[in-house]
Amino acid sequence: MKISLSVDQELCKKCYACIAECPFDLINKDKEDVPQLRKAAVKKCIRCGHCMAVCAADALDISISPLSKSPPVEKALLPAPDSVGHFLTSRRSIRSYKKKVADHSVLEEILDVSRYAPSAHNCQPVHWIMVEDPAEVRRLAGLVVDYMQSLKLFPGLVRAWDKGIDKVLRDAPHLAIAHADPASSEHPVEDCTLATAYLDLAAHSRGLGSCWAGFLVQAIHFRHQPLLDALNLPDNHKVYTALMLGYPKFSYRHIPQRDPLKVTWK
Ligand SMILES: Cc1cc2nc3c(=O)[nH]c(=O)nc-3n(C[C@H](O)[C@H](O)[C@H](O)COP(=O)(O)O)c2cc1C
Repeated sequence: MKISLSVDQELCKKCYACIAECPFDLINKDKEDVPQLRKAAVKKCIRCGHCMAVCAADALDISISPLSKSPPVEKALLPAPDSVGHFLTSRRSIRSYKKKVADHSVLEEILDVSRYAPSAHNCQPVHWIMVEDPAEVRRLAGLVVDYMQSLKLFPGLVRAWDKGIDKVLRDAPHLAIAHADPASSEHPVEDCTLATAYLDLAAHSRGLGSCWAGFLVQAIHFRHQPLLDALNLPDNHKVYTALMLGYPKFSYRHIPQRDPLKVTWK
């Protein structure tokens, strides 16, 4: 990988935050104690951009994430701790959706946020299929029901489907499916799960509801061929997670109870 790092010596305060924060110790000091990139960076840099992002003086620039293309953190936009707690605990899995499609731009915005989820070695292996067409979501739900029927699984869900009720994808207008090449990450399950959790929360922040689509993922893992054909994944890719999306038909007025915290303090 081609990579270059430059330091504005007039601006650099020699605080060495860049050295301390590099996950793979790829920055050291030159003869004048100015931070410089080690040769090993060509092979070992994971393109996290932390060295540039942490520099208090904006003195350090790096080709893999140029300062000019890396927006500043806006402290005024960060939510207060109470807001974050309430935001997270007020998110619910939504199982009844309005017959209203989300704008393409809104779906794009929430997917964009998901790119910032942590990934092992910052390898960012997650790909998405975003089903925008409600009729296609319905068709995929039908294929999951076919799979259930063929294996005599979840007879209640199959009976509901026969009566026109979709308990698989809940008549959601949209569906996001996360897939990855397992060879592209040491932890594709975690990478896709975290990206999907980010998508879930970004959806909540925009007033969209969501629900993890476990039945769909199960049918894909059992390699139900019509479903695989419908998804037409790139070679070697696997589906790890999926999320129904749409505007909630009902709004939740309370935060339900959860188990007490299970923690061992040491
Ligand atoms: C991996 C996973 C798979 C899930 N699959 C489904 C599903 O197929 N259908 C469904 O209605 N809910 C599904 N859920 C949602 C859970 O039932 C839900 O998160 C849980 O009941 C807690 O409710 P809450 O999300 O509103 O707090 C799934 C959740 C996870 C994490």
